Amino acid sequence: MHFDERRTHFLADRLQRRLKECRLDSFYSYYRLLISKEGRAELAQLLENLTVNETSFFRNKAQLDLFHKYVLEELLRRKTERRDYGLRLWSAGCSTGQEAYTMAMQVADALAYYYLRHPLPYEAPLPKPLVPAPWRVEILASDISYSALRAGQEGIYSEHQMAGVDYSYRLRYFDKVGDRYAVKKPLKEIVHFDFHNLKTEYLPQRNDIIFCRNVMMYFDEAEQKRLVEKFYRCLNQEGYLFVGHAESLLGLTERFQMVHRNSGTAYQRIEVKS
Ligand SMILES: C[S@@+](CC[C@H](N)C(=O)[O-])C[C@H]1O[C@@H](n2cnc3c(N)ncnc32)[C@H](O)[C@@H]1O
Repeated sequence: MHFDERRTHFLADRLQRRLKECRLDSFYSYYRLLISKEGRAELAQLLENLTVNETSFFRNKAQLDLFHKYVLEELLRRKTERRDYGLRLWSAGCSTGQEAYTMAMQVADALAYYYLRHPLPYEAPLPKPLVPAPWRVEILASDISYSALRAGQEGIYSEHQMAGVDYSYRLRYFDKVGDRYAVKKPLKEIVHFDFHNLKTEYLPQRNDIIFCRNVMMYFDEAEQKRLVEKFYRCLNQEGYLFVGHAESLLGLTERFQMVHRNSGTAYQRIEVKS
């Protein structure tokens, strides 16, 4: 994790809290604890305190419109032509899962709309599956925060967390459980949560689309460059990368081209012609 001058206060404050909790009186003794075998649980605890998990459903609507109406549409057409019916998407730095479930709802809707215009060559069983055969959709949601991953896996959200979800999405993709909303099973089944530290070398491969929004802003420039290079290799040909509203690939790489529509931005892998 990288903390520049603007975030020194935040780091000091979070460290002080842990010191107090552990009844330690110096940063050095806390450091000794962290690097010891006995300090492993404390290291995980510190990590939880240092990550910023802010997220929401349908975050950055303009970008999601681009994803839904242009990128998915193009991907479905391209894949159908090649008779490649597998779709792999990745929410890298997924926090508590809202981003991955938003992607899942939009993929399910894009598939349904696609088949409204290009009917399936067979009678689909009733109730209609979310993902009609022969398609297979996998959405990986990864993070370094175990508590965030657990919350995502549970898939139950408060009224407050549901603020960005309009009623048509609530009706189709959620069940009301007491005063909270639970993601319905068929949607949950296409999202898989797993631990991945984006700073490690080996990351999930063969993705058609990667969302890594509001994560890179916490990395220093060298680390951002390394990550973007890794994402290039983790994407299939002509795959897309989505970054946060306040983030950009400008100055980090020349291996992606920007796609911009109605205020939404994404980056597509540039293929080197041989
Ligand atoms: C601000 S949240 C963004 C959530 C979501 N992508 C969004 O835009 O709404 C940032 C997430 O990145 C995760 N994160 C930070 N460093 C990471 C790393 N090195 N590897 C994986 N995830 C990381 C944090 O745990 C946190 O859940």
